[in-house]
Amino acid sequence: MDLISTLQAQFQSSLDTFCGRAYTENSDLHRACTYALQGGGKRVRPMLTLLSNAACGGNAAQAFIPALAVELVHTYSLVHDDLPALDNDSLRRGRPTVHVQFAESTALLVGDALLSDAFSLFDPQLYPCGVSDSQYLAMSLELARAIGGSGMVQGQFEDVDWTGRSDGTPETLLEIHRKKTGRLMGAACVMGGISAGASAAQLDTLRTFGENLGVWFQLQDDALDGAPDTGKTPNKDLDQGKLSLVRLTSATQAQQITQTYETRVRETASRLDPKGTGLVALIHALAQRRK
Ligand code: IPE
Ligand code: IPE
Ligand code: MG
Ligand code: MG
Ligand code: MG
Repeated sequence: MDLISTLQAQFQSSLDTFCGRAYTENSDLHRACTYALQGGGKRVRPMLTLLSNAACGGNAAQAFIPALAVELVHTYSLVHDDLPALDNDSLRRGRPTVHVQFAESTALLVGDALLSDAFSLFDPQLYPCGVSDSQYLAMSLELARAIGGSGMVQGQFEDVDWTGRSDGTPETLLEIHRKKTGRLMGAACVMGGISAGASAAQLDTLRTFGENLGVWFQLQDDALDGAPDTGKTPNKDLDQGKLSLVRLTSATQAQQITQTYETRVRETASRLDPKGTGLVALIHALAQRRK
């Protein structure tokens, strides 16, 4: 098996163990937490953590805890993103969204639970992973700063705030994408680096790499809005009047901007992963994604 398939399988088994330990109540809250986490996501962010750890010479055992934390945060962000007050979406990963399958109140609370439970993972006693207490602290702070009121949540706020408007520029959109998607991916990469004991300079490289990757990934996601078989409602962004490159500029310029980000990400990945089996292979797979 290649490195990514091996890590995907190991990550899935850590997630199964975590769910089996954390969400055991016979309650809709616990059933919905598991439903949200086990819905067939691509696991891109945990792979970024694990592969960044590998790129910095670490061993995977050090990185499963931050990898779980980042997937919990990502899942919370999607459950809330789908709520009627935000994107009002009824389909995700080919299944009803959490508030449709359960209840709106449950979906709100699932997000609250997953976000809090993500940070409970940074407990050296309960979840030892062979790194120091100060590395646990540094990883949890990196994650907290990336997703709060000046990071992912601010990006989500701006996304909603700009919905229905068309007076933005490509730069407006790229900055929203950097916050709402790039900051979490940046933190995913940095946590992998911290778990491997990377230098401050390496961590800066990983942060910029993850943020650029997030912008590129979100541009791809926007471009897939009208595509079939994504597991999401077709043309949702178009119908809701979301800001997008195609609305703000020509098709040629949109293509050029997306290509610029792809090139940046590929160049940095080649430097971080000269063997090409880790981050490089992940970027290669993402470039071909259809959902
Ligand atoms: C969806 O992320 C939200 C965006 C940032 C575009 P993913 O495409 O990684 O979602 P899953 O986890 O694979 O379903
Ligand atoms: C979601 O972006 C980004 C976050 C949840 C932070 P989208 O709204 O484009 O994601 P999808 O298309 O619903 O997956
Ligand atoms: Mg959204
Ligand atoms: Mg959405
Ligand atoms: Mg989208």
